[in-house]
Amino acid sequence: MVTLSKEEFQLFQQLVESEYGIHLPDQRESRLAEAISECMRESKSSSVRHYYESLLGPERHKNLANLVEKLTIGETYFLRNPAQLEVIKTHVFPELLKTVNVLGRELRIWSAGCSTGEEPYSLAMLLLEISRDVIRQPLSIVGTDANQESLDAAERATYGRWSLRQTPPHMLQKYFVKQADEHFTPVPKVRQAVRFQYHNLLKESFSLDGLGPPDIIVCRNVMIYFKTDVNRRLIEKFADCLSEGGYLVLGEVETVWPMPRNLVPMEFPGVIIFRKHSAGIAAPERSFVPIPVPRALGRPSITPADDHVSFPSYLAEASALADRGEYAGAEEYLKKTVALDNLCAVAYYLLGVLAQRQGQWKEAIQYLRKALYVDPSLALAYFSMGRIYQQQNQPAKAKHAFLNAMALLETMEEEATVPWTEEMTCATLNAACRQSLNSLESKV
Ligand SMILES: C[S@@+](CC[C@H](N)C(=O)[O-])C[C@H]1O[C@@H](n2cnc3c(N)ncnc32)[C@H](O)[C@@H]1O
Repeated sequence: MVTLSKEEFQLFQQLVESEYGIHLPDQRESRLAEAISECMRESKSSSVRHYYESLLGPERHKNLANLVEKLTIGETYFLRNPAQLEVIKTHVFPELLKTVNVLGRELRIWSAGCSTGEEPYSLAMLLLEISRDVIRQPLSIVGTDANQESLDAAERATYGRWSLRQTPPHMLQKYFVKQADEHFTPVPKVRQAVRFQYHNLLKESFSLDGLGPPDIIVCRNVMIYFKTDVNRRLIEKFADCLSEGGYLVLGEVETVWPMPRNLVPMEFPGVIIFRKHSAGIAAPERSFVPIPVPRALGRPSITPADDHVSFPSYLAEASALADRGEYAGAEEYLKKTVALDNLCAVAYYLLGVLAQRQGQWKEAIQYLRKALYVDPSLALAYFSMGRIYQQQNQPAKAKHAFLNAMALLETMEEEATVPWTEEMTCATLNAACRQSLNSLESKV
């Protein structure tokens, strides 16, 4: 592995951040060195300097995308985050289709940071689920990404089982054609509804070629490595370019509170999306903050302890089930986990989140207390507790819980990741706590 001097680390750090938005805190130096070594081997670069120059030359887009891919978790799959997609299918699409029918124009959908295309193709499938006729209407789904190789793969549209791991059998049968070697391609009707385009969110205009103001923008799991101020700027640009009454769908941890005033939050069970209402239309004062769910669950690489060999599979199973909204099944796996080790804080925390999502407040608080008994530094658990007390109209208890979470977060680096998540920074969680506290101020 190459060793980077401080100056070299900073050069790469600045380049990746200014070109892509990806923020690499100093603690990630060895990860960067590893990624650079791998890229240098692939491109047969003779030195770090030589490799750095290749990121400024004519092949810079390709080379930089390759480096970024190694620094981030770029995975995607069909029908990811079913709870959000269900809201899009049952609420957003029917609403917007009515509007565009009246206006006599096409429905415009932008999947920003679509990687290898699973997300925009999934959206096309959901539209077909509403009506077989819908795709006969003029329709425009555009998937964009700053990685041209991913977009080329999206155009080829040949997917292995891993991309289809959350696709229910009936959807697989209905919307895919089986190819050789266990690979699948979306049916022509789905493929024809989607087109792909290179677009770097940091560099390009948000007015996409050939697409008028979008009615829906979906940008999920893209801004997770960006700094909060970059996310805020991009969210403002999304808001500006959306059509009036259009929707913005973000990943759970990419939302930056407070959101711009022209984006009104709409809350569904376990899901928050945003609708554009221009200045002048009264947007209600809202104080939503997302309930963070540890990402570590689906990532068996992060195990609670080396000797807890069964945890990753139980926790991963629980995560997959919770993602599909199958709370009872998820709960069963989490209970198996705590039966194996009654000191597994994250399992208690998750049991609390599941109970909270099902409106079982007392059980949720009990589980969160257990999580904190095992791991008193679990700021996430205090935060969730605060949210429950807030919803239960118990402002003094809510305030106490948020203050505890903030006190813990203050002992951590702002840009450090909150323990048990891979994607939420301490600064983001702290801001969410502060916002909740502000909204409590008048009540305590
Ligand atoms: C994890 S994938 C997300 C795919 C899909 N949205 C999903 O949620 O499954 C993240 C994608 O964001 C893209 N990306 C990262 N920075 C970007 C930028 N500045 N502009 C456009 N795309 C970017 C990456 O190339 C990658 O394909």
